[in-house]
Amino acid sequence: MNKGDGPYSYAQNSSYQRGVVDAAKEMIGEAIADKLDIKHLSFASLNAFCIADFGCSVGPNTFIAVQNILEPVEFKYQTQGLNSRIPEFQVFFNDHVTNDFNTLFTSLTPYKRYFAAGIPGSFYNRLFPKASLHFVHSSNSLHWLSKVPKEVLDINSPAWNKGRIHYVGSAKEVLEAYSAQYAKDMESFLYARAQEVVDGGLMALLIASLPDGILHSQTTTGMLYELLGSCLMDMAKTGVVSEAKVDSFNLPIYYTSTKELEAIIERNGYFNIERMEKMDQPMMQATPNLQMCTLHTRAVMEGLIKEHFGSEIIDELFNRYTEKVAESSFVLNLENRKVIELFVLLKRKMTN
Ligand SMILES: C[S@@+](CC[C@H](N)C(=O)[O-])C[C@H]1O[C@@H](n2cnc3c(N)ncnc32)[C@H](O)[C@@H]1O
Repeated sequence: MNKGDGPYSYAQNSSYQRGVVDAAKEMIGEAIADKLDIKHLSFASLNAFCIADFGCSVGPNTFIAVQNILEPVEFKYQTQGLNSRIPEFQVFFNDHVTNDFNTLFTSLTPYKRYFAAGIPGSFYNRLFPKASLHFVHSSNSLHWLSKVPKEVLDINSPAWNKGRIHYVGSAKEVLEAYSAQYAKDMESFLYARAQEVVDGGLMALLIASLPDGILHSQTTTGMLYELLGSCLMDMAKTGVVSEAKVDSFNLPIYYTSTKELEAIIERNGYFNIERMEKMDQPMMQATPNLQMCTLHTRAVMEGLIKEHFGSEIIDELFNRYTEKVAESSFVLNLENRKVIELFVLLKRKMTN
């Protein structure tokens, strides 16, 4: 799957996602002002302050995020009278090996104030040497699982997800399988970063999630996944795709809750939770419209669908989908848009 191709670049250029990265600016500034101890051993004699953005895609959001980190760090050195000690900055852009890093680096302004490098590979694995990162950032990426949980593809499992493409509206075993996969993936992410981040280093994570107590089936995104799945089933009935092919297609996406995420971070034990709160997103106030819903879903899903079903079905699928979304008063009701963006600030605990 090429997760760095057109669809992703559309999705991350959408005003919704830009809104998320912009809204984080203030919170990241506060995190650096209040929580980054630049006089600590790990920072005191630095040659380079190392920043990594995990799941960077192709820009421009990643460039904005880097600026949002770099400027307050410089400012902190200045205001603490450490002008002469301001380090150089090294920025690492991470995404899957299939990401379009050429587009990313071509868009990078030559006037940037940092050294840049691409780090291809899954962020669920180790990607950096021990204690080499000072600030980690990731936005809109950690709801992507490393894989579809194997139980939902197993015809003999109670979690077999027949006739659906996601856990929304499925048996509780399906949701449990997704939740277990998410916990495993987040543990891998936190364990890998715990090795790579220096003592006292910070991680700012912007994670799409659900408010505690809300089911995904009660949200607009949940309903959109249901509608997409039902279009595929309609196409199976008319013989355009086989039913078995639909049964074996599931979205590797999971929306956690505050409680669940907090428990995972605490179990991992390497980071203190400095802040965890719902972000104010100006874009969330906008009334969702038909075009926005269908374009966004197509942008995010097209690559996955093509890979599984081939490109021939795409136009028919999204024509059917647009019709169903147009008929759904639920989807176009702002009240039902309950997916939130969580801002999570973690600080690496001191090693003994
Ligand atoms: C929706 S985009 C977000 C891009 C950007 N961070 C933003 O906020 O606009 C999600 C990105 O996460 C990347 N991604 C998903 N899973 C990943 C993984 N396991 N390792 C590295 N990157 C991953 C995708 O390839 C994609 O580029």
